[in-house]
Amino acid sequence: LDNGLMRTPPMGWLAWERFRCDIDCEHDPKNCISENLFIDMADRLSEDGWRELGYVYVNIDDCWASMDRDEKGRLQPDPKRFPGGIPKLARYMHDRGLKLGIYGDMGTHTCGGYPGTPLDKIKIDAQTFADWEVDMLKFDGCYSNATEQEQGYPLMSNALNATGRPIGYSCSWPAYQGGLPPKVNYTQLGKICNLWRNYGDIEDSWDSVLNIIDWFFENQDTLIPAAGPGRWNDPDMLIIGDFGLSMDQSRAQMAIWAIMAAPLFMSNDLRTISSGARSILQNKMAISINQDPLGIQGRRIIKEKSGIDVYWRPLSKDDSALVFFSRRNDMPYRYQTSLKKLNYTTGSYKIFDVFTEKTMTLKDSTDFVVSVNPTGVVMWYVSAPAKLSLRQLY
Ligand code: DGJ
Repeated sequence: LDNGLMRTPPMGWLAWERFRCDIDCEHDPKNCISENLFIDMADRLSEDGWRELGYVYVNIDDCWASMDRDEKGRLQPDPKRFPGGIPKLARYMHDRGLKLGIYGDMGTHTCGGYPGTPLDKIKIDAQTFADWEVDMLKFDGCYSNATEQEQGYPLMSNALNATGRPIGYSCSWPAYQGGLPPKVNYTQLGKICNLWRNYGDIEDSWDSVLNIIDWFFENQDTLIPAAGPGRWNDPDMLIIGDFGLSMDQSRAQMAIWAIMAAPLFMSNDLRTISSGARSILQNKMAISINQDPLGIQGRRIIKEKSGIDVYWRPLSKDDSALVFFSRRNDMPYRYQTSLKKLNYTTGSYKIFDVFTEKTMTLKDSTDFVVSVNPTGVVMWYVSAPAKLSLRQLY
């Protein structure tokens, strides 16, 4: 969507995967969906080095609303859990250089059973979000049919635009259409949404991450052209820092999300995150690959019977990124190849290993071995061969 927003994939934090629909603030005050949770996360983002790296969105998901609209027909937050209202949260974010995201559903109800935004409520809800000074909307698709979605998703895009407030627009629409053409029209999506969920929900497990990766790369020829500045495929949240992934698997999620030019919304508890998980999520080189200004989504270039995949993403200034990925469950696998076999053909390249931070120079024809841990990755930032400069000529 050409609204000037999200020219690189958006980054931030999203409540859903980690905190779900916990509304029991009486017994679980620290973890329930309430203004305190979003304030806590905003404090962590702004005090623990996240914001400076680009993690600026703090996004509310389902279960924030009151069951009833107000006397003017507007959505309102649950008064016990959000006593200050959404504008207070928006101000809290803006005062700290952060942004606030909210959640709605193109249907009679949200997936969690809260009030939805059916066709006749789209305008008023868009205006309410703008009046609250919200910066992003995730628009889910439970409790609506295909015909309603066909109208509703473009209508909300227009309604948000008509408010005059820049609001990033995340559409769950394609996930409800099965994610693929002919049902999904990616050209249209790129015009009306900044990002979209193509596929099912992520869960806190390696199986879930692997299943998502496989779906996105099996369909890469359809999905890659859909992505670009202002319009991104969204394979769902980062679950690094939760309970389901080892450190190797966490590096793998970070690496593949960077190759995919995926939105980086963490869903974890930033108050208690381990330093290991934090350093993966805060890896500057991985983030800069994800945020490359060209915005070209990467692809799987090799899938070996041995269980090793190779992923590649072209970056600006003729640089690129490579990921060696292991599906194996036994031991580190010594994968032998050369840059030439990976389609690099113009001489010597500078290699920067994203997670070990080691550098080396490699000729395209030289065979090398990378040792890839089980369910882990090796990720490289590859610099284009130095161009012959005037200084070298004389
Ligand atoms: C389905 C979405 O795909 C999830 O990300 C989450 O928003 C839930 N609905 C909330 O009910």
